[in-house]
Amino acid sequence: MKIIILKDSNELSKRAAQILANQIMVKPNSSIGLATGDTPLGMYKELIKLYLNNCIDFSRTTTFNLDEYYGLKPDDPKSYYYYMYNNLFKYVNIDYENVNIPNGICESIEDECNRYEKEIEKAGGIDLQILGIGRNGHVGFNEPDANFEAKTHIIHLKEDTILANSRFFTSPNEVPKKAISMGIKSIMRSRKILLLAKGIEKATAIFQTVNGKITPQVPASILQLHPNVTLILDLEAASLL
Ligand code: GLP
Repeated sequence: MKIIILKDSNELSKRAAQILANQIMVKPNSSIGLATGDTPLGMYKELIKLYLNNCIDFSRTTTFNLDEYYGLKPDDPKSYYYYMYNNLFKYVNIDYENVNIPNGICESIEDECNRYEKEIEKAGGIDLQILGIGRNGHVGFNEPDANFEAKTHIIHLKEDTILANSRFFTSPNEVPKKAISMGIKSIMRSRKILLLAKGIEKATAIFQTVNGKITPQVPASILQLHPNVTLILDLEAASLL
């Protein structure tokens, strides 16, 4: 694992955006795996700035989001589709034909999960996957007790994740209890992985990811087996390393 520790979230966002922009410059038709949550927001802002300065061209880029809440429509302000549209896609020249996000209101979960995996395959796999991390070590929505063999599937969210994510809703009761997420296997197949973490509440999860034993109890610990992972951390998230 390569670990980059930067002084704050501004530096983290800039560095992450530079790595992503470089990937697209070197391979304009890259497939990029995208994450949601608070952590990558600054990176998306930096990417928009790079785009407005003519430093990045998304026209041939394909994106795959890690996950979506089950039951939320794309135009629901809490959905990850809405998040991506409002924090990145509407500001850049991405072709919507090349945007992939699990459909939270699909009729058949099984068909939707199979369809999503096929789309990743058709795109030739994911070149660079961006990840955040949950306080309990989850990646995407792969919660503790994760099945390391899983591809895209439906997940029952743990109480801690529902509580953590309730900051984006008016109350914990409003947070959907299930999500469709790329599985650990789908994530591990990416050629490169960039995991971003900031803040003291991620320090234990980061310590366990880097130094702990590889266990389904800390889903991100499986990244120790990936040949090309970079962690970009702020000082607080790195404070136990
Ligand atoms: C959600 C997302 C994850 C994200 C995590 C951490 O659970 N499904 O992909 O990594 O939140 O989010 P934050 O960056 O807001 O702490």
